Amino acid sequence: MLLYRGGRCAYTTTLLLWTSLSLCSATYVQKNTTTTPGYTLLPGVSSVPAPIIVAPDQGFLGIDGAWNTFSLRVGSQQSIANVFPSTASQQIWVVNRDACVGQYEDTSINKTVIGFDQKCKGSRGYLFNTTESSTWDEQGFYGLWVGGTYGLSGNGYYGYDAVGLGIPGEEGPTVDNTTIGTLKNSNFWLGQLGLHPKPTNFSADLLSTPPVPSYMTRLFEQGNIPSLSFGYTAGVQYHDTLFLGSLTLGGYDSSRYISNNVSFVFSPDNERDLVVGLAGLTANTTTRSDINLLPAGTDDVTLLIDTTVAELWLPLAICEAFEKAFGLTYDNTTKLYLVDDLLHQTLLAQDPSVTFSLRQAHTTDQTVQITLPYAAFDLEAQHPYRGLNETTRYFPLRRGDNKTQWALGKTFLQEAYIKVDWERSRFNVYQCDWTYGKPTNVVSIVSPIYAEVATAITKTGESHTGVIVGIAVGCVFIVIFIATAIAAYLWRRRCNAIAAKYAADAAEAEAARKASPTDRDEPLSSPVSEKVPNVFPKAELPGQSNVHWHEMGTDDKEKGSIEVMEVDNTERPVYEMLGDIPAPQEAAGRQLSEKETMLVREKNINGVDTNARTQATSTIARPAPVASLDDIAMVNTRLPSNGVSPVTPRAPRNGAHLEAGDTLFQLPPYRAQRDGRSVDDLLSPISPLDAPSSTDSSRRRFSYES
Ligand SMILES: *[C@@H]1O[C@H](CO)[C@@H](O)[C@H](O)[C@H]1NC(C)=O
Ligand SMILES: *[C@@H]1O[C@H](CO)[C@@H](O)[C@H](O)[C@H]1NC(C)=O
Ligand SMILES: *[C@@H]1O[C@H](CO)[C@@H](O)[C@H](O)[C@H]1NC(C)=O
Ligand SMILES: *[C@@H]1O[C@H](CO)[C@@H](O)[C@H](O)[C@H]1NC(C)=O
Ligand SMILES: *[C@@H]1O[C@H](CO)[C@@H](O)[C@H](O)[C@H]1NC(C)=O
Ligand SMILES: *[C@@H]1O[C@H](CO)[C@@H](O)[C@H](O)[C@H]1NC(C)=O
Ligand SMILES: *[C@@H]1O[C@H](CO)[C@@H](O)[C@H](O)[C@H]1NC(C)=O
Ligand SMILES: *[C@@H]1O[C@H](CO)[C@@H](O)[C@H](O)[C@H]1NC(C)=O
Ligand SMILES: *[C@@H]1O[C@H](CO)[C@@H](O)[C@H](O)[C@H]1NC(C)=O
Repeated sequence: MLLYRGGRCAYTTTLLLWTSLSLCSATYVQKNTTTTPGYTLLPGVSSVPAPIIVAPDQGFLGIDGAWNTFSLRVGSQQSIANVFPSTASQQIWVVNRDACVGQYEDTSINKTVIGFDQKCKGSRGYLFNTTESSTWDEQGFYGLWVGGTYGLSGNGYYGYDAVGLGIPGEEGPTVDNTTIGTLKNSNFWLGQLGLHPKPTNFSADLLSTPPVPSYMTRLFEQGNIPSLSFGYTAGVQYHDTLFLGSLTLGGYDSSRYISNNVSFVFSPDNERDLVVGLAGLTANTTTRSDINLLPAGTDDVTLLIDTTVAELWLPLAICEAFEKAFGLTYDNTTKLYLVDDLLHQTLLAQDPSVTFSLRQAHTTDQTVQITLPYAAFDLEAQHPYRGLNETTRYFPLRRGDNKTQWALGKTFLQEAYIKVDWERSRFNVYQCDWTYGKPTNVVSIVSPIYAEVATAITKTGESHTGVIVGIAVGCVFIVIFIATAIAAYLWRRRCNAIAAKYAADAAEAEAARKASPTDRDEPLSSPVSEKVPNVFPKAELPGQSNVHWHEMGTDDKEKGSIEVMEVDNTERPVYEMLGDIPAPQEAAGRQLSEKETMLVREKNINGVDTNARTQATSTIARPAPVASLDDIAMVNTRLPSNGVSPVTPRAPRNGAHLEAGDTLFQLPPYRAQRDGRSVDDLLSPISPLDAPSSTDSSRRRFSYES
């Protein structure tokens, strides 16, 4: 008995151990789905990967507000990194362990010490020590590029390594050997999860260093997600209940937003493709309503949805309208709208809510309204953000010098949900739905390599059941045909017989018809297909400047060495480039290369798919209106060619220039900026007001922003 018990205990212990071990080492199991509402799977495709719901962390981080993070597992040691999703970046960024080594204030002894700052670690979403990863494949230092338009800069220490979604125990898929930029000294406080599918171009010489596929592309090629697409909202803390962020890859969660019928088409510049036009901007307070914040003359405002930044970057005229409406004051030192206690009390009392009316850029189409309550603007910035010395309330509004800087950052995504289909070059913006306890409803967006959008007219979904159905349909068709022929014959005879009577009646009927307002002459086509499409692709012209100069380092040896960070528009339009490449093989059941993926995208965007031609000419003679991504499922629309692929790799976008080395940036990690000017002071054109003094040293180059 005792023995038995002992054995049982041992058995139980073993079982427990085994269970916990297997839980710890649980690997991701790819799930496929056959439920693809709105899409008809292509022949030979029986199922597609299910969308990935990336579980949000429980915490909020950031020095420019508090933003919900998502966890990654990085390197062979599976270091956790809490990061923000970036709609503009295509790379994974994590904070390098070196970023927290340096000079810092030890509050327990009130002394400045040099070493590893433990507090920094948590604040920056945990750190990645590249030397601890056996799979780290170093590439070196490259400019971060993303965020450069906002004056955010710095170098990343780049390499290839494994990046998995989720924390150990709740693992999502892992991509091995993918591009990682580790942040040491940069304007970015936390890392990010780049959601853009464009490849990283490490060198201008594409032959020796081919473009490296993005994280999203690798997930898709590995068969982890049904398409290059995502749905995202940032999450908020200020509602009665906490709403964590929601990030779905390869689909979206329709429970998180209020549906609308407005759809947007990418602008052709792949640095700025998620662009919306600002049709209106109003505010209501407790005492006033419909305050116009869009002054006359600012009627061509286009805004990039870019979660790389926290704030709303708006034209000066709009910022001034905000200042006037809410009594905000601009702080020349930090370039922030700092909010003191008095103003904060006033704003709380006024409780302004700001409504953005958005539409496809450069059109007069339908608009979608996104309203942000004051709570969404009630943010706190902390040292070392923009040189602040202490935690300060601020209103997340920034003055954008020109349209390359106008953007809607994370602040906006607190109240908005964005859904992007990179492959079909479309996106939607919705007002978030704050109904508590709504069950999640994840819907797939399915790639054109797996499925075609189901048309409302032909229920092709039913035709897969086999020959019998085909025969049945054929029989029905023949029966209908014969019946119609007989009916027509009889009708004709009858017509002949009563021709005289008909002629007399016809005049009377015509008169009656004209009298009825509901019965006017109508065109033969359905009213739906006659409607003007809600979406209208119009080129947003790239900035006038083709060459961006970026000066790094003011060491003597570096002086005068000005590096070309980007040369725009020097390559031929992509459709020409792609024209030389043979059409890809049937993709089902096989992984696509980056090039092939681009081709697939191209053919879907430009409608050059040879397979699709025949179908296109018959069913898509006229572009049908497309309202939302859901509606794409109903109208197999192809976008007109804009000649530019959204995945166009451009000249050294990611900083093709190897920096001289880490030595240039051996600064104390984040005290360095206390009294310094931020890098955007140095990079922006020198205005008399902002002219940096000539005594600025390179130590002042890096402030920290997120
Ligand atoms: C999931 O779907 C993809 C695409 O159809 C297919 O290649 C893969 O084999 C499927 N996986 C499973 C486990 O069914
Ligand atoms: C990174 O890990 C290596 C090996 O464990 C260690 O020697 C090094 O000190 C670590 N780096 C930092 C900055 O802690
Ligand atoms: C550190 O300084 C603060 C205020 O400056 C003081 O309240 C605190 O007692 C000091 N701590 C130590 C350990 O000296
Ligand atoms: C990792 O990826 C890079 C870039 O795509 C490639 O050049 C390299 O060969 C890959 N390494 C391994 C081990 O697959
Ligand atoms: C979207 O359009 C459909 C059909 O035109 C209509 O039934 C529906 O009410 C519209 N939805 C919204 C939110 O406007
Ligand atoms: C603002 O107030 C006006 C008038 O009361 C109302 O029509 C409008 O819907 C309000 N807007 C918001 C965003 O609440
Ligand atoms: C900020 O700069 C502007 C423009 O130079 C100037 O008019 C204003 O007085 C400055 N404000 C403060 C608080 O220094
Ligand atoms: C922070 O403190 C330094 C030194 O005391 C000062 O020069 C700087 O202006 C302060 N920064 C801000 C934003 O007040
Ligand atoms: C837009 O403003 C930024 C920042 O001031 C500047 O660097 C850039 O050159 C400007 N671009 C154009 C086209 O004026």
